[in-house]
Amino acid sequence: MLYYRTLELNQIEDFWKLLNTLDAETDYMMYEPNERTQTTNVQKLKNDIENNVICGSDFLQVAMENQKMVGYIRAERGKFNRILHTAYIVVGILKDYRGKGIGTSFFEMLNCWAKENGIKRLELTVECCNETARHLYEKSGFKIEGTREKSMFVNGSFVDEFYMAKIL
Ligand SMILES: CC(C)(COP(=O)(O)OP(=O)(O)OC[C@H]1O[C@@H](n2cnc3c(N)ncnc32)[C@H](O)[C@@H]1OP(=O)(O)O)[C@@H](O)C(=O)NCCC(=O)NCCS
Repeated sequence: MLYYRTLELNQIEDFWKLLNTLDAETDYMMYEPNERTQTTNVQKLKNDIENNVICGSDFLQVAMENQKMVGYIRAERGKFNRILHTAYIVVGILKDYRGKGIGTSFFEMLNCWAKENGIKRLELTVECCNETARHLYEKSGFKIEGTREKSMFVNGSFVDEFYMAKIL
């Protein structure tokens, strides 16, 4: 059975595992395989979640299937007064669970959170070749604002990203 929930601190090890598995499975997110374990650790992740999600104003939902954590979406709300009305989105779903509507549900939940919390601008970046993600974002109301040329270096090549935003 598939369901969604807010992350609790007693699930931090599962969340750490999910992030590391995504790093290994996809070239479309920020970390290279094994890079996360070299630069941060589960305790820092726990502090981050405690400070910015549980006691802070970021939005974070995880998707669970039969007790297994299979995906997440996070929106990092602006921390300064002049950008409090904005949030930057990161999303990732394990390979075997893509194409089942989880991404679509995540963006519906994100939209509700944004409306309830006075967010006026949702923003994200996406590699130009990531057509699945771009399709999901456009379907959810995001528009391309511009191209960040050679903004990522992936598997030995520079790649461009789209800057996308949704105004509420
Ligand atoms: C991008 C991602 C979040 C989408 O989530 P998902 O759960 O697979 O998405 P959904 O099942 O809700 O499908 C969303 C849409 O994409 C479409 N889609 C699925 N696979 C596709 C493909 N290979 N090419 C084009 N569109 C595709 C679906 O048909 C659906 O559109 P529709 O409702 O018009 O039919 C997920 O694939 C993922 O985590 N990918 C790897 C990490 C990543 O790219 N993260 C984003 C970095 S910016």
